[in-house]
Amino acid sequence: MSKHVTVIVGSLREGSYNRKLACTLTELAPEGLEFSFVRTGELPLYNPDLDEGTPPEAWQSFRRCVGRSDAILFVTPEYNRSVPANLKNALDVGSRPMGESVWDGKPSAIVTGSPGGIGGFGANHHLRQSLVFLNAAPMQQPEAYIGNIAKLFDEEGRLTNEGTKDFLKGFMQAFAAWIEKLT
Ligand code: FNR
Repeated sequence: MSKHVTVIVGSLREGSYNRKLACTLTELAPEGLEFSFVRTGELPLYNPDLDEGTPPEAWQSFRRCVGRSDAILFVTPEYNRSVPANLKNALDVGSRPMGESVWDGKPSAIVTGSPGGIGGFGANHHLRQSLVFLNAAPMQQPEAYIGNIAKLFDEEGRLTNEGTKDFLKGFMQAFAAWIEKLT
């Protein structure tokens, strides 16, 4: 039976390179994985007071989407050596109410992309730190820091670098095996 993976892209930008990267990753994935993208830009900032009554609809649908999936794929840029605020907010929204975290026990994988050479290392590891705490089982190897991302895609958003394509294919095969092991 197919496993369902929720994809969370950390960038809200229309022409986001990380979104292109995320689409490419879904295309390179082995059979047996299905994907859906969930948006984080519309989630109100987490405020515990709003969980006292009926939580905002955007929080409820986000929690439902993540909650019913088998695994999560994060693809994100680095903002100031950490994750973009919308992504951190999404982690917080999904982690509450206490005891009902949608991240708990879910296999996950992290890919960071940057036009710079470091490939979003800081964001990758800040996100990894939160996911470890949330018991969202981030895959340890292979790691994926995609540098020079602005040069990797053509006008149609297709990945042009064969070496990167092979690496991403291997990454998704490892992620599929990770999901299989944990679910
Ligand atoms: C950035 N950028 C950036 N890049 C990086 O490698 N390390 C960093 O710490 C930051 N910090 C940062 C902060 C803010 C507020 C912005 C807007 C940008 C540059 C960033 O990697 C670049 O804009 C990417 O193109 C963003 O990814 P998307 O939107 O193309 O997916």
